[in-house]
Amino acid sequence: MSDAKIWAKKSTFIFAAAGSAIGLGNLWKFPYMVGENGGGAFVIVYLLCVLLIGLPLMMSETIVGKHAHGNAIDAIGETAERSGASQNWKGIAALGMVTALLLLSFYSVIAGWAFDYTWAFAKGDLAGKDTAAVKLYFDALQADPQRLILWHSVFMFATAAIIARGAKDGIEKSLGLMMPLLFIILFVMVGYSAFVTGKFGETLTYMFTIDFAKITPMVVINALGQAFFSLSIGMCAIMTYAAYMRDDISISRSAVYISGLDTLMALLAGLAIFPIVFANGLNAGSGPGLLFVTLSTAFAQIGMLGTILGALFFFLVIIAALSSSISLVEPLVKWLEERFGVNRVFATFGYCFIVWALGLLTVFSFNIWAKADVLGTGKNPFDLISFAASSVLLPLGGLLLAIYAGWGLDKKISREQLSTLNGTLFSVWLFIMRFVAPVLISIVFIASLLGKVS
Ligand code: PHE
Repeated sequence: MSDAKIWAKKSTFIFAAAGSAIGLGNLWKFPYMVGENGGGAFVIVYLLCVLLIGLPLMMSETIVGKHAHGNAIDAIGETAERSGASQNWKGIAALGMVTALLLLSFYSVIAGWAFDYTWAFAKGDLAGKDTAAVKLYFDALQADPQRLILWHSVFMFATAAIIARGAKDGIEKSLGLMMPLLFIILFVMVGYSAFVTGKFGETLTYMFTIDFAKITPMVVINALGQAFFSLSIGMCAIMTYAAYMRDDISISRSAVYISGLDTLMALLAGLAIFPIVFANGLNAGSGPGLLFVTLSTAFAQIGMLGTILGALFFFLVIIAALSSSISLVEPLVKWLEERFGVNRVFATFGYCFIVWALGLLTVFSFNIWAKADVLGTGKNPFDLISFAASSVLLPLGGLLLAIYAGWGLDKKISREQLSTLNGTLFSVWLFIMRFVAPVLISIVFIASLLGKVS
């Protein structure tokens, strides 16, 4: 294997995969889902999902990518061939890439909101506003396609600019800057919440007291979906990054670090956000508007410091989103490059343009098409795309991946790749791939389809 094809630094795989994992899922979705799904009850189920299914699946993606050192489609093809399994398994990677395309198309629009807010806080536009006024600001942003398109374009361009430079010069170098920044800003925020708001204790109780009565099937469904989304599983992102991994790095240890960091960031986001929300007497269960209305109101109310914290916080959201979006573009670009010899810059900008165009469906879903009903589903284009990606394709990808790792892939390959695991833990991993994950994901998948489609 030539040196150009692997990360320059040993730690890069962990940082790159953690960068992919840590994103809007941690900073935006996790806190509002905790708020909507019963606080500590959701947190505990989420932690179990990460440990029991997310972490082992992340190891599976890594095994395949690291073994083949190539793009995800061919990596599955190669491992399947060595295992004497069907080449149709490659479909998992193809499905993952379709999911990534759909997901990125709306992810970018939401990341665009963070751009708008960073700018608005920095200019002082939000200073002093109360909840109603911040809500008006948020509604006005959604109602304005031009502004949404502007920020969506900026975000997609930034993503493309990084990917076009390649794995080492683009991804590895930019992450070297983004990841430390991410941790520093979040720690500053948690520090503020812990020492200034006086509501840290209340937040700890809220997030970590488990009321078992609140653990409903819906909480489990939401927690598993969130675990997949947050750990970047099922979309070939981790598999693709693993292709650049050095052979002497332990897969299991890396996966533990990555899921640990991702979980830590989600919990820290909660610890940073809720005290500010509580201190201002606001509602933690306000749903997707938690960051953009509730938390922002809190920032707006605390004067000059709020302006700085607000701008800093949304800048943090941008960085986290960017380190995730690049991992959604790399899989396809790498495949086009390796398979068809397509020029990287051309492949990147071409693909990002398609994502951008698809993103317009989301942009218009917040205004002119808000009430649109696509194909009689009762959903507007954004609702449909996000439902298809997060609730259907994502669990489906995870399910197929588990079955492939457990049943399709030759045990010799997985054993060789997981050489640092002892025999018992390896058997546990295999048992999870063969039985636990397929059964649990299927139950959750069917339940969520029944619950949401009807
Ligand atoms: N894990 C990212 C987040 O939490 C989203 C993502 C999913 C990124 C899948 C890449 C692949 O925001």
